Amino acid sequence: MLVNFKQILTMAEEGGYCIPAFNVYNIETLMGAVKAAEELKAPCILQVYPRLMKEEVGYYLAPAVVAAAHKASVPVCFHLDHGPSELETTRSLRWGATGIMLDGSALDLEDNIALTKRVVDTCAYVDVQVEGELGHIGSVNDDSMDEFTMPEDAKIFVERTGVQALAVLVGNAHGRYKKPPKIDIQRIADIRKATNGTALVLHGGSGIPDEAIKEAVKAGIRKLNVATDICYAFLDSVQEEVNKPDRMIAVDNFMKAPIEAVKEFCKTKVLLCGAEGKAK
Ligand code: 13P
Repeated sequence: MLVNFKQILTMAEEGGYCIPAFNVYNIETLMGAVKAAEELKAPCILQVYPRLMKEEVGYYLAPAVVAAAHKASVPVCFHLDHGPSELETTRSLRWGATGIMLDGSALDLEDNIALTKRVVDTCAYVDVQVEGELGHIGSVNDDSMDEFTMPEDAKIFVERTGVQALAVLVGNAHGRYKKPPKIDIQRIADIRKATNGTALVLHGGSGIPDEAIKEAVKAGIRKLNVATDICYAFLDSVQEEVNKPDRMIAVDNFMKAPIEAVKEFCKTKVLLCGAEGKAK
């Protein structure tokens, strides 16, 4: 069942858990993620990087995500991840996205607010809600992290933009961490309080220790993003299949194991989020 960003986050809020948000890249990762959510009866977010929405692959991938969401036995939101500008956010609405992230975190506070607010207003015309980002969440390969999200800035940002959810920088980064990250749980709680209970988003979910994820959810994280480890689950399985002497040649049969691998991986994150059995 396809639902919008507000609907899915309301479920998490009312149930005191977190929605797993899986980045999908192709039909196989999409199938693995949806099967995981269905098997564990969990609502989930399927999200797509902006380059995929912008390039030719978007013509194929977006309709597949929408079809998967409609067919799913659990609530599914189709979300744009890290939209950098109105080009990607508008195009994603056209492709049927029901949630939009506008990432203006590289801009200064005023410019980030102005751009995010414009996107919030546009999306509202079609009953789609927006995730903003404050405090730039970089890559694990960056030399240093930007300043962590400040609760008082988050309050101003949320009040002036009207975002449904806020991605925060609290020790997290995208990619495979070189050593386990230290997530600032107190800061999550402080931002949550300052923003009057706004749904907070933890990016960079690949490799954050399980205990830290559980504590972060208790402190107010309502959406957990996972991308890199989905790619590894998929590619490691592909490699294993390729090396088998009796490997499948028909690509659809070959892909069964990688789909299963993605599914099993995603299930571990559903459980960590506390989303199991929460689909209504
Ligand atoms: P990882 O690739 O580190 O899991 O991060 C995913 C993410 O935050 C997508 O926005």
